[in-house]
Amino acid sequence: MRKLKNILITGGAGFIGCNFIHYLFGLSNSGTDLFGDANFTGNVVNADCLTYAGNLESLKDVEEKFGGKRYFFEKVDICDRAEIERIFKQYDIDTVIHFAAESHVDRSILGPEAFMKTNVMGTYTLLDVARNYWKCSLDNIRDDVLFHHISTDEVYGSLGETGYFLETTPYDPRSPYSSSKASSDHIVMAYYHTYGLPITLSNCTNNYGPFQFPEKLLPLMISNIKNGKNLPVYGKGDNIRDWIYVEDHNRGVWEIVNKSPAGEKWNLGGENEWQNIKLLNEVIDLTSKEIGKSAEEVRATITYVKDRPGHDKRYAIDCTKAKTQLGWERKMTFKQGLLATIKWYLNHEEWMNHILSGDYKNWVAKNYTEQGR
Ligand code: NAD
Ligand code: TYD
Repeated sequence: MRKLKNILITGGAGFIGCNFIHYLFGLSNSGTDLFGDANFTGNVVNADCLTYAGNLESLKDVEEKFGGKRYFFEKVDICDRAEIERIFKQYDIDTVIHFAAESHVDRSILGPEAFMKTNVMGTYTLLDVARNYWKCSLDNIRDDVLFHHISTDEVYGSLGETGYFLETTPYDPRSPYSSSKASSDHIVMAYYHTYGLPITLSNCTNNYGPFQFPEKLLPLMISNIKNGKNLPVYGKGDNIRDWIYVEDHNRGVWEIVNKSPAGEKWNLGGENEWQNIKLLNEVIDLTSKEIGKSAEEVRATITYVKDRPGHDKRYAIDCTKAKTQLGWERKMTFKQGLLATIKWYLNHEEWMNHILSGDYKNWVAKNYTEQGR
């Protein structure tokens, strides 16, 4: 087990990062005790520049309980080398868990530049600062510091009807988003092989759970059902994604950070494949019941829209390595997790309304009016 003291979380105001910070401080949002305790007693520095996807409202409870004691927020762009250097020095960072990214495929198609800047150059900047601050060398790979990079299964490309992505599957990214993440993965590995920076890397499937920005499939559909809006399905709705509850992903990351040897790459996934249209029908049934609407009336608002260009057909991950070597496995069943997630969004109206009245509304109005969002 590594001894982690001062963790720099990048992108901690986003969906997965804020759930991770909650998990570290024992403030699970799952409504269950499935995820146990992270047993972390050190400090957390959250560096996030608060793009449209960063929301400090998601961390209100953490700030109230731990702010200025064990939790410190820094509004910083990860591309800003001087500021990242200051943070390493000021907090004596020994661990980086790097979540910050531009993360939405549709936005990457409309404007790839921010993806290249943050995902490629931002990751490079963090790696280079860490290497210098930790004085890394190939002759002596340190075991008291670690850089963990969070990545996606989308780097592997698209699967047909059969097969799974393994850690050894060659990269074949198709979208500006996945290609920028693939680039960052390669740079992370290069820093291990070239400079002896102790790194680990994880590639995970689609996450779901609380605090996800409502441009992604599940919160978008739950919000649209509630507000009586159309439900835009890309193409025929037959693309397949593998869904994992966000705290299962984060627990996997925590296992890796604590136990994995440096230089290792890990696949994490839900072993839970759903065709988009089947998943949407499930969401319609559960959400309609919760809000007392007729599922048939809601189903009539499904709107098939123009497909996403280069839309990957199927993602599915083989996570045997994490299961056998780390003893990690998914704990939340999809049935339980989906209902808990739907209830969470319905019960957090204020959180959702603040987002829907801000940048998201303007962005959709500019880019998606023809899709009836
Ligand atoms: P998100 O878009 O919800 O959050 C990203 C966060 O990063 C935001 O808080 C944003 O303000 C911050 N950020 C963006 N650019 C920044 C910059 N230049 N400097 C500092 N902060 C910046 O994303 P998410 O869904 O939480 O994803 C987190 C990570 O997990 C990403 O690396 C993503 O590629 C990866 N991932 C996501 C999924 C998923 O299903 N969401 C699946 C696998 C992997
Ligand atoms: P998304 O949540 O954007 O995640 P990703 O593209 O990273 O997998 O989309 C999940 C799936 O849902 C993907 O196949 C695209 C599809 N989709 C729709 O059909 N309609 C929508 O409005 C959105 C946002 C996604």
